[in-house]
Amino acid sequence: NGFFGTRGAMEETTAGEANYPGTYIAGMYNRLITPISGRDIENEDFVNVPNWLKINFKIDDENWFNPNNTIINSISRELDFRTGLLSKTMLVTDMEGRQTKIESCRMASMSNMHLAAIKYKVTPLNYSGPMSFCSSLDGTHKNEGVKRYNSLNQQHLEPMTQGGDGNTTFLKVKTTQSNIEIVEAAKLQFRVDGIDQPVAHGVSTDDGIVYTMIDYQAKEGETIELEKLVSIYTSQFGEKDILTQALWDVENINSFDELLIDSTKAWEDIWEKTDIEIKGDRMSQKLLRMHIYHLMVSASPHNVKLDASVTARGLHGEAYRGHIFWDELFIMPFYDIHFPEVARSILMYRYRRLDKARKYASEYGFNGAMFPWQSGSDGREETQVVHLNPISGEWGEDHSSLQRHVSLAIAYNTWQYFHITDDINFIEKYGAEMFLEICRFWASKAEKDSLTGKYSIKRVMGPDEFHEMYPDADESGLKDNAYTNIMVSWMLGTVPVMLSKMSDASQKEIFSKISLKQTELKLWIEISKNLHLVISDEGIISQYDGYFDLKELDWDYYREKYGNIYRMDRLLKAEGKSADDYKVAKQADALMTFYNLDKEKVDQILTDLGYRLPADYLSKNLSYYLARTSHGSTLSRVVHAQLADIAGDDELSWKLYSNALSSDYNDIQGGTTAEGIHAGVMAGTVMIAISTYAGVDLRGDMLSIEPTLPKQWKHMKFRLKFKNVQYSITVTPNNVAIFADADTQVKVLHKTYPIQSNKPAEIQY
Ligand code: BGC
Repeated sequence: NGFFGTRGAMEETTAGEANYPGTYIAGMYNRLITPISGRDIENEDFVNVPNWLKINFKIDDENWFNPNNTIINSISRELDFRTGLLSKTMLVTDMEGRQTKIESCRMASMSNMHLAAIKYKVTPLNYSGPMSFCSSLDGTHKNEGVKRYNSLNQQHLEPMTQGGDGNTTFLKVKTTQSNIEIVEAAKLQFRVDGIDQPVAHGVSTDDGIVYTMIDYQAKEGETIELEKLVSIYTSQFGEKDILTQALWDVENINSFDELLIDSTKAWEDIWEKTDIEIKGDRMSQKLLRMHIYHLMVSASPHNVKLDASVTARGLHGEAYRGHIFWDELFIMPFYDIHFPEVARSILMYRYRRLDKARKYASEYGFNGAMFPWQSGSDGREETQVVHLNPISGEWGEDHSSLQRHVSLAIAYNTWQYFHITDDINFIEKYGAEMFLEICRFWASKAEKDSLTGKYSIKRVMGPDEFHEMYPDADESGLKDNAYTNIMVSWMLGTVPVMLSKMSDASQKEIFSKISLKQTELKLWIEISKNLHLVISDEGIISQYDGYFDLKELDWDYYREKYGNIYRMDRLLKAEGKSADDYKVAKQADALMTFYNLDKEKVDQILTDLGYRLPADYLSKNLSYYLARTSHGSTLSRVVHAQLADIAGDDELSWKLYSNALSSDYNDIQGGTTAEGIHAGVMAGTVMIAISTYAGVDLRGDMLSIEPTLPKQWKHMKFRLKFKNVQYSITVTPNNVAIFADADTQVKVLHKTYPIQSNKPAEIQY
């Protein structure tokens, strides 16, 4: 529900090869040190908090039911995106031939972020006799969700207190280093055929776990039900008396059904805003809703109360340790157009860590604010310095923190948020400060060549993570990454526009708060017009200075040899080679520029920088880099799908898009989905549907629509909020229907149409 996320593991299971129960709380981290090859490696991890799901049963005092060790006659599991309800029905037969029907459904409340509930039912189909039921709250595990982290210290929880009385139990644990207390409380209701039963609840405890045991003489054909109502609290943001709170909550929730009604109402509001309706392509329809669902459980309206951003892998697993990356750039537009207050809260997560970013910049000899590539609890750099190559099994240096472009993403997100929402209050109070401090950082990183007058930016890595350094270089980092330099030019050039939107008083205030001088602004404009790029005679923008000197890779050979070559860097490393030597990219790099900025803007920046490119340079660059990209990140296809559409190659665009759409559904990276969803590609595909295929461009002052619907999409309907006007838009292959809640103007295929408040308008195209 945005505050916590619980994986779909069955109630009866514990962690193992086939099952991995996990619950993660937004912003809940713990830092541990592990000695590796003579040095201490520190990692801040996303903590798998106590498992609130556990319920099990046994017949005749035999073994507890284990779905991995029984005959499953039938099983069906369903996740209802509309309500967030996860249900399962199983028919099982044990070694004695006893048949049992097991049903469960559960939910995390979208209306009260602390609450969760399970309804668990067992029906003995061909036997009667003594049965026992056990429910527990269990904090005795360690993090084990990502195999390659298993050699690291992963014991993040330590027990504090546990206990219970009657049908109510509680468990309090804390994280070992960050000292965050986590409390779970549960209330049980035991029913037979829908009628409450007064049964004895045997509560027992061990360190870090509390059990409730119920014995019952079961009769063939009757349905025994255990309803478990749960409340979860943490001391993370200074909350007091969390145990009392959690116990009060469970005491005062009446039933699963009541909780479900409230939560479903909250979900209805969410779907009302976010749903995309597609006719003609059921798979796209289903996958887009799946993506919206997973985004909403990763960050929801609850997040306004939290100090957290959207992690790269949602609240779904332990990969990337729950860290926050530049992926916000792909994710935030979804919140900008549907939940501006959540988008603002995501930006506030960054703003609250601005001082850490200032410190980080100054540690490296720069001014302003340099945000970390991976951010966790307090905003320090969390990127690991060594990384395990799962193919070779060897630890190697990790230079990815040189992806300083994360700060550009934060500046871009700040500007986009403001542009879409017109929230000048945010800019005046927080956004401008963050934006200007990022400008300051880049200005101090740019070095002027006294001969050419051009500015260069050294020691960075672009979004393509395969290239970390020059062949045979002693130190990591690359010079004049095109994406970085163009985005820096955009950002510095945007400063006067941003300032002009602010009141005189707030301008004065910010100048004085961060001691900004007019001379600095002048220098920024000079840099913005003089950054160095390398561009070939044919108009190919070199990914960085020196990229053209790299060797070409024999793609056919590697495809044949390995089949799956997404992680070409790891394959090359395992062969004793390095991706640094080859023209091989993990994901869009120079091309990323066109994902952020419209082509006219990029054209203007290139012209201002003094470069002349051929008219068809975009499609030339697209084919050049596509042929050299292995799509090792799911983000890659999203970007290329948009660019292929701009370049007019609809077939290629659809191929990349449909692949991106199935990233997690088909687990296209072969195992990474189990470690957490890919929030960036999920939001990216939702936004490409709106921005590329429905063709809604939010980058100008007026909403502009230029549809290029995939041919099987016969109808697409969605809503969005732009500059305080709520729109509902329906696009068909030759018609756009627009409904707005205020008088406005919209461009359709470059022609401006007036739209009257609450009056549907139809435009043929
Ligand atoms: C991608 C990065 C991304 C990170 C987290 C990596 O595989 O290359 O661009 O930020 O995953 O999603």
